[in-house]
Amino acid sequence: MTAQMISAEFATCFDHQPDFVVRSPGRVNLIGDHTDYTGGWVLPIAIDRSVLVAARVVDPPYIDVHSAYLDQRIRILVDDVATLPDESWSQYIVGVVALLKECGIPLRGFELYLGGDLPPGAGLGSSASMEVGVAQALLKGVDKRLSPVALATLCRRAEQEYAKSPCGIMDQLSCTLARAEHALLIDCQSMSTEHIRLKLDGAALVVIDTGVRHSIARSEYPRRRRECAAALAAITDVYPSIASLRDIREDQIVSCAKHLDDTLRQRVTHVVTENARVLRAAEALRSSDLPTFGRLMNESHASLSDDFEVSCDELNDIVSIARSVDGVYGARMTGGGFGGCVIVLASSDSIPKLVKAVHESFDGRYASDATPFSVRAADAAGVLDDDRDV
Ligand code: GLA
Repeated sequence: MTAQMISAEFATCFDHQPDFVVRSPGRVNLIGDHTDYTGGWVLPIAIDRSVLVAARVVDPPYIDVHSAYLDQRIRILVDDVATLPDESWSQYIVGVVALLKECGIPLRGFELYLGGDLPPGAGLGSSASMEVGVAQALLKGVDKRLSPVALATLCRRAEQEYAKSPCGIMDQLSCTLARAEHALLIDCQSMSTEHIRLKLDGAALVVIDTGVRHSIARSEYPRRRRECAAALAAITDVYPSIASLRDIREDQIVSCAKHLDDTLRQRVTHVVTENARVLRAAEALRSSDLPTFGRLMNESHASLSDDFEVSCDELNDIVSIARSVDGVYGARMTGGGFGGCVIVLASSDSIPKLVKAVHESFDGRYASDATPFSVRAADAAGVLDDDRDV
């Protein structure tokens, strides 16, 4: 989708051309899931599928937002943010507006049109893309800036405090800090980051969307957070110097066995082994060791499925089908789980076989069919030049 296409949609909706368009990318996490909210490591890329925000500054002090995804429009009064009905999607935007005001940003009236080619609710970070895209548009309209970390932190607060979704920081940081052709290694405790060049000579990344959008994720996600907190509390009884799950060694889990029930032991085992895998995967990427990277992806999926229990039949089936194809290095679920997408690292010449195998062996067996598409590592969110393709 191009800036002109979204501008034309904006013009149909609001009877004017927009002043500018912001592109805000989705993300695929290559490895390191359910580690961000316990201060661990993650390794996402921003992808070449985005939420686009076309924006025009207006004089009256209200922000009209039209979502093309839902074909719905909301109005937020700049001076009275709290008056909006509690529609779930609008709370992400209300949160961004309220928190920008709290930072002392003098907001203007706006018309905003949200569209793009990032599928919503597919576990590709669409909420964070919407938050960051809207925040960047509102900031650009009043000629203000926030640092990428401050912007990501503000957007996470909007999601946690207004949309009541207790997410970590991965999606927002990926959206504000990613770089084309690089993966982003994030230390979610210090928020320090490293861009690692993706040298995938002869290989590519393919996302396979299961089409499953489980609402259970919303209740299971907070439960996993509580389980991680309970596991940490039990472990600090034995090792008082441990402040975070990232500081635990595998042998310490064994010596805490009496204090952890089976579920908590599984949860903490996933987090500890996943953190170690992210660091090994980053090393493999630095040296372009794709077989090792793929093996770590496979181990990560097993851990998310067996120990953290956030996978589902559809994700597990697609992972198995993908791994049965010659030339596939590795496959795993990506993001929060319970549906959403699988990410596959495969040699470029095996991709037609991969797509064929997925359609032949998966489609028709579940309520929705699979949608495979290739992704490239894209740049962080930003204002688009007039005629740049998205
Ligand atoms: C969701 C959250 C992220 C992260 C992932 C799991 O995408 O928004 O913060 O916790 O799940 O890795």
